[in-house]
Amino acid sequence: MKKDFPIFKNNPWLVFLDNAASSQKPQYVIDGVSEFVSHDYANIHRWLYSLSEKSETAYHHSKELVGELLNCKASEIIYSYNSTYAINLIAQSLVISDILKTWDTVLLWIREHHSNILPWQILAEKKWFNIEFFNINDEYEIDRNDFDQKYSDNVKVVSVAHVSNVTGKIYDVKKIKSKLRDDTFFLVDGSQSVPNFPVDVQDIWCDCLVFTGHKMMAYTGIWVIFLKKEWIRKLVPAFRGGGTVEDVDIQWHTLANNSDKFEAGTPNIIWAVSLLKALEYIKSIWWMKKIREHEQKLVKLCLAGFAKYQDKIEILWPINTDRVAVFSFLLANNTNFNNIGETFSDANIAIRCGGHCAYPLHKHFKKPWTCRMSAYLYNDESDIAKFFDVLDWLIAS
Ligand SMILES: Cc1ncc(COP(=O)(O)O)c(C=O)c1O
Repeated sequence: MKKDFPIFKNNPWLVFLDNAASSQKPQYVIDGVSEFVSHDYANIHRWLYSLSEKSETAYHHSKELVGELLNCKASEIIYSYNSTYAINLIAQSLVISDILKTWDTVLLWIREHHSNILPWQILAEKKWFNIEFFNINDEYEIDRNDFDQKYSDNVKVVSVAHVSNVTGKIYDVKKIKSKLRDDTFFLVDGSQSVPNFPVDVQDIWCDCLVFTGHKMMAYTGIWVIFLKKEWIRKLVPAFRGGGTVEDVDIQWHTLANNSDKFEAGTPNIIWAVSLLKALEYIKSIWWMKKIREHEQKLVKLCLAGFAKYQDKIEILWPINTDRVAVFSFLLANNTNFNNIGETFSDANIAIRCGGHCAYPLHKHFKKPWTCRMSAYLYNDESDIAKFFDVLDWLIAS
């Protein structure tokens, strides 16, 4: 696949294993965005000229493909800019829609990414509601007893990531949903699942799912929110402005009755087209099932590679294939993560060392930090072999 990605032509020695943070972009996406901007770009909505119509068609088509990807309607898709904005938008909208009130509780999992903690925390600090965290057990699964205790009648929202960005473990979010009452709003953070395997929102039966385009080969600045039709009707948006309304007077306004009401101001049209191009590219090669198959091969190679070190290396998450190609590890003989990261970097291998925006999880397992390698569809056997060559060297030195 590497030939499709100019970054590898321009950096022939690069072994890119920081895909959980962000993915590289294929020429098809770069050309597609450039073509769109050169030929068809204009602002969308209420157009009376053909250029704007073309631009709106591309924007809408992007949502249609996301709908195909997630098995939902394009009208249930809202575009946003990043996870901070997206989860803040949903959290604040739940408050101003009176779905979340002072005595209510939002239940989160201790292993969440900060972007699924802080947006709730700022509102809880202002006493709009309470937050509780349920624990992870030593098998990195839900601590069932803790969940049952914390899932009280006051819980109105449960928000969890589908896949941990630290351990790579895939969680059975459908099973979590099956434990919830009908009046619990269930939000799934699909940042690490949607780019890696087929995700079906009807099957999960979630009320809301968010994911980001830049981890699946689109540009930065395009976040996707799936919001179930009934919630699009029921929720009122926390942020408002141009594009969100039906009518405005000096004392009042009435909101649009579709997903437009959540997209205040000019949307990120160009980056929406980058997502359209990324999805066209994915469709043209393998679609998601094939990405999963390729990654599973890489997972097996990594598991075999890590297995040989035994007590010289600790991996955050027991060895198992029920995961994506994300591995966080610690070395027994080297506790300086800057040194480990730089050693990989000297060998042109990009990995990430630190807390991975999941400090509560690291604190829970009493690990100050970890090193994380993460592979994607353009990584191959030789990348994995080069990674283990450097690890061999680090462990031996
Ligand atoms: C599980 C999870 N949620 C949210 C995010 C935040 O995404 P972004 O950095 O695009 O806002 C990430 C990014 O690594 C993630 O892994």
